[in-house]
Amino acid sequence: MTMTDPTTAAHTSVAAPRVAFPPGFAWGSATAAYQIEGAAAEGGRTPSIWDTFAKTPGKVLNGDTGDVAVDHYHRFREDVRLMADLGLTSYRFSLSWPRIQPTGRGPAVERGLDFYRALVDTLLEHGISPVATLYHWDLPQDLEEAGGWPIRETAYRFAEYASLAASALGDRVPVWTTLNEPWCSAFLGYGSGVHAPGRTNPADALKAAHHLNLGHGLAVGALREVLPASAKVAVSLNLHLVRPLTDTDGDREAARRIEAVGNRIWTGPMFKGGYDEDLKADTAHIVDWDDLVRPGDEAEIGRPIDLLGLNYYNPTIVSAPNGDAETAEAARNDGHGDSEFSCWPGSEDVVFHLANDDVTAMGWPIDASGLSDSLVGMHNDFGLPLLVTENGAAFEDVVGPDGEVDDPERVRYVELHLQAVADAIAAGADVRGYYVWSFLDNFEWAYGYSKRFGVVHVDYDTQQRTPKTSARWYAEVIRRGGLA
Ligand code: FCB
Repeated sequence: MTMTDPTTAAHTSVAAPRVAFPPGFAWGSATAAYQIEGAAAEGGRTPSIWDTFAKTPGKVLNGDTGDVAVDHYHRFREDVRLMADLGLTSYRFSLSWPRIQPTGRGPAVERGLDFYRALVDTLLEHGISPVATLYHWDLPQDLEEAGGWPIRETAYRFAEYASLAASALGDRVPVWTTLNEPWCSAFLGYGSGVHAPGRTNPADALKAAHHLNLGHGLAVGALREVLPASAKVAVSLNLHLVRPLTDTDGDREAARRIEAVGNRIWTGPMFKGGYDEDLKADTAHIVDWDDLVRPGDEAEIGRPIDLLGLNYYNPTIVSAPNGDAETAEAARNDGHGDSEFSCWPGSEDVVFHLANDDVTAMGWPIDASGLSDSLVGMHNDFGLPLLVTENGAAFEDVVGPDGEVDDPERVRYVELHLQAVADAIAAGADVRGYYVWSFLDNFEWAYGYSKRFGVVHVDYDTQQRTPKTSARWYAEVIRRGGLA
């Protein structure tokens, strides 16, 4: 079995690009299991929290579910061929925990592992280097019923699952990511409740955050035990690029609070030895940190990793609370779905603003400077090699009379952000790859199938795949090794 490392895989260039990327830069695209696989009840898979949530009336737009999604479970060979046609050198996907270990306990299900063995082998046959994410939000429902991420036991269950998955696939997957955006799992899942499991309790959200961190650390340890020494271990964080609206003390204090509970809650214990005192003080009235964090936890969470993944979509602009109901409403509307409950425990009254009104179909402002600022900041703060594990945009795509999907806005979005990556590299950040979100149109969580992020269009009635203009444009960028 050949192991291609996406950070060293060869790429070819035809004409010299205006903006070149380092040799071996991984040109990728990303997806997640629940968003694309379908086959929800096949191969021994049992429900995850997302199956349950999606089937709860009123939780997902139009009652959409991932039961069928884009049927990638049955069409993965066609999908990988399409990736190869576009020249992708790497592909980031996630493993479905309930497909591999249905109840979150006990032995792995071989049929579940076989699906991923076949997927990975097909990728390798096409020279595409796999990056596997262990947890992209699909906790086995049984584990939620036992208490979910707010209880400590879930972290140990996660490490066991990580070990099972890596024992089976570690001979052929060179890069492993533990968690995808634990901020969403904790604060949208247990705080605002717009994501599964849909609980709305600030103490549970903070407990979930710590146990996700602990699960990450325990999983890193478990992965190191079973993976070959050459394998790399990473995590994908949606670190918020927080900017105060003005330079007043109040706005800077708002930014400090959001950085604490949005970013440093992860990076503190992962890279800096522990949770910051200001974060604990901001949330001390919600949770007893001395009880939550046991001796040795922070050291466990801080196990060294090899690569740090950033998922970036837009910057976060904040200002001081002003006590007015309208801005309190805006504070809750952070672009992930509406809720009367906050996803910012302890900082519920901070006010959020749009960076500009040049927005995508999600209403997310387009500002690529946040990507370069994030990458340079992460390089300076943590000194790790970086991957952009997600970046992309939803637009109202239209299928033309000729069947083609022309999406110049997505081309522009990706071009601006690739330029930002190049700028960060020029400023010294060690960025090893870029994964456009997403390869295929798919189930966009609380928005169901209403938001299309793919560079490849999917007709949800026929499951026909059609590369959009952005896919063909990205293929040219890859062939050229950079921007024209
Ligand atoms: C990220 C998720 C990903 C996708 C994009 C649009 O938060 O990781 O699954 O939904 O947003």
